[in-house]
Formats: sequence, structure tokens, C-alpha cells
Amino acid sequence: MAFQRVDGAFIERLRNVIGNGDVLVAREDLEHYGHDETEDLVHPPEVVVRATSTAEVAAVVKLCAEHQIPITPIGGRTGLSGGALCVHGGVGLSLDRMNAIERIDEQNLQVVVQPGVITQVLQEAVAAKGLYYPPDPSSRGSCTIGGNLAENAGGPRAVKYGVTRDFVLNMEVVLPDGEIVWTGANTLKNATGYDLTRLVVGSEGTLGIITKAVLRLVPLPKETRLMLVPFASALKACEAVSATFRAGIIPSTLEFMERDAIVWTMRHTDGLPAQLSAEPGAYLLIEVDGDHGDLLMRDCETILGVMEAHECGEVLFAETTPEKDALWRMRRSVPVSVKAHSVYKEEDTVVPRFELPRLLHGVKEIGARHGFTSVCYGHAGDGNLHVNIIKGDLSDAYWEHELPKAIREIFELTVSLGGTISGEHGIGLVQRPYMDIAFNARQLALMRAVKQAFDPQGIMNPDKVLPQA
Ligand code: LAC
Ligand code: ZN
Repeated sequence: MAFQRVDGAFIERLRNVIGNGDVLVAREDLEHYGHDETEDLVHPPEVVVRATSTAEVAAVVKLCAEHQIPITPIGGRTGLSGGALCVHGGVGLSLDRMNAIERIDEQNLQVVVQPGVITQVLQEAVAAKGLYYPPDPSSRGSCTIGGNLAENAGGPRAVKYGVTRDFVLNMEVVLPDGEIVWTGANTLKNATGYDLTRLVVGSEGTLGIITKAVLRLVPLPKETRLMLVPFASALKACEAVSATFRAGIIPSTLEFMERDAIVWTMRHTDGLPAQLSAEPGAYLLIEVDGDHGDLLMRDCETILGVMEAHECGEVLFAETTPEKDALWRMRRSVPVSVKAHSVYKEEDTVVPRFELPRLLHGVKEIGARHGFTSVCYGHAGDGNLHVNIIKGDLSDAYWEHELPKAIREIFELTVSLGGTISGEHGIGLVQRPYMDIAFNARQLALMRAVKQAFDPQGIMNPDKVLPQA
């Protein structure tokens, strides 16, 4: 693909359409926008544009199309697969200034947002009206709805409520030629034609730039109960997961953390309950939510029965809001704590939940054979295990040449268990080489045809998602 370089004349043209000084070319700005949370990767754009309206986005995209310059949409830069990295330079289009919550429709339980809204800001705004937007990636305090839509983000509550895609009704999208389209309708049901909305969600900015979204809301549950359950054996903890659902309970979250994830994170978290011990092999963090405390207590008793049948240790109930908050703070800081500990690679494996013990066992076996250690945690209720491979003392040569073979084995195992290679972090840049494990040539050809239909010039976030042909 022959892309053009950004030159002074092009920057001048950008300044003419953006008009307000939000065209950045200083080296520190380019570096700032050149990385997300993916490993230690840095791929700066040649120029950053901070658009303030759909019209501006469309004008910038048209210019890029005219000049054959690649364009990469950028959200909160919290991604874990490199989806927002500008691998071919070009224009990095930040949506951070398009951060309005345009309308909370209390009659229809819907909200209209711009893509730059921080996820937690949206959650708090709708909660003030007794409404709930459940998708809650760990980065919700800094990730944006646009990024969540692009990557189809999940998070702990997906197990009961679903992922980002399940909350999107309709989107305004700037196509790679600069035309503006809506993908669907603002309805809960829609059997009208191909589902462009669900196609664009999760397409990682490769099909167009999302400039507005209509999202579905649900009533805010009034109460939660939260328990932390230790297990001597990580495998027993995983076995208890599917047993919980078989006992008739759908928890609002069911998270798994191996010992090291807890130990490393405890160093960074204040206000944890004193009894928390680093001895167990793993913990489950289980929450139920609803409107009636007595029903929730009954659910907790059922869950307790399942946990005891799987040889859990002493269960810790978070009694107060500060205790609950501390446990959640701990869980949400696992990714940053792992990152602070060592260079690492994070795999986002997902299997049908009953296969979780087999996946965990297999990951450890592959690690033992290939000589790496891993710390696993994740959304066990969804069968979604984040496998964090720790670099520690491993050599750069091993990391670059040997480890990919082991990762391939992990993904092959995942797929053989009926799973797939990313549950919620996306394929982006770093998982592209493994797409052939999840899809055969015909399936990949269908995806390439979709990309071609949307973006015949190939300028929209090039070299992401689809493997090199
Ligand atoms: C989490 C992110 C890494 O589960 O997906 O914390
Ligand atoms: Zn996660």
C-alpha cells in the first residue's frame, strides 16, 4: 500500500479545515498520542488532529482520502491490542474533544453521546437519573465510549449485562471517503437489512470513525452484595465458576485472580479489609445486584454453598461501601500492577466457561514447557482469562522469537476448547499474526471483502485486525 507522507502543505490544509489550532506537530504531542497501554509499543502519528465536530472529522477524512494519507482514530489510549497506534504515521485523529453527553432520554432509556465521553463520566451522569450503563472496562476512568465501541470492550459486568455491543442501538459514522452515515435505528428491535451497527462496533477503527452513538440503558440496581472467596487451588476456583450458574445464579460479576495478581496489587491499594491474605492460590470476586436485599442474601447463600463444595477458604463479605470500593479498586488495578512489575504480554483468551479449568491448566503446562511464567486473572464468569506472560529475566531474543510459538499454542488450545483469541481487547496490531488460528482462509476473505467495501483505498487505520495477506 503506497501511502503519502504528511508535508507542510498538507498540514496547512488541515489547519484550514480545523481552524482552531488543534493540529499538533510538536514531537512531545506526537509521542503522547503514539502509545496506548499495549506493552511498550510506540507508533506516533505524523500529525495529531483534535476534532470538535462530525463535520470536522468528515473534512479531515476527505483530505486524507484525497492525499492517500492513513488516518487512525484515537480515544483514551487505554487499549491493549494496539488498535490506536499509528503504524504508518499519517494523521492521528483524537476524538477527545468530542465529549458531550448530548441527551439522556429518560422516556426511552437511551442516551446520545459523542465518542470522546469518558466511560465513567457517562455512567455517573446516567446514574444521577437512576439509570445504568453497565459496560465497565477496568480503565473506565480514562477510556472513552468511542474506544469502547471500536474495541467492543467488556469488563466485569458483561457476565450479567453483556458487552459494549449489546448496548448500542445506532451510530453516526464517518466513512473512509468522508461521507457521514447512520448505521441503524434508535430501536430495541431491528430486523431491517444487514446489521451495520454490530459490524462497525468492534471493527477497531478500520471501517470508519464513530462520531456519535445512541446507547441503551437499564434501570440502576439499588443494591449489591460483594464477596471475595479464597481457594487453595486455582483450578478448583475455576471449577466453581460454571457450577455457580448451574445453581441458578447469574452474578453481576464473577472475577478470577491468581495469587500473584493479588499480591502485586495489594501493594498499590489502600483500604483493603485487614483479613485479606496472600496465601490462597486464587480468589473469586463475586457480586450480585438487584433491588431487594433479602433476595440478594438468598443468592449469596446459594453461591456460598457452591463455593464450599469446591473447597474454598473463609469467605470475606464486603460490608460497607468503602470496603466494596477498596476491593473493586484492587481488582481494577491488577493490569497496572502487573505492568509495574515487569514487561509483559497480555493475552485475552476466552472459552465457554465450563472449559475454564482446562484452559488455565493448559496455559500453565505450555508455560512450563516453554519456560515462562504467567499471571492469570479475568472475567471468569464469561470464560475470559487474561493471561499475562511475565518477561522478568527472559531474554529479548526469547521474547521476540520463542514466545510467539508458545502464544500460538495457547491460542490453539483456546480454539480447540471452543473459544477464541480475544474476548474484549481486540486484535489490533499485536494479535494479527494469530488470526489464522481463529479463522480459515474463506472467513478471512469475507472480512477482507468487508474492509474493501468500506475502505477501498485502505487508508482507515491500516494494518490492523486482518493479518498480512
Ligand atoms: C481487565 C482488563 C485488562 O480485565 O481487561 O482488567
Ligand atoms: Zn478484562
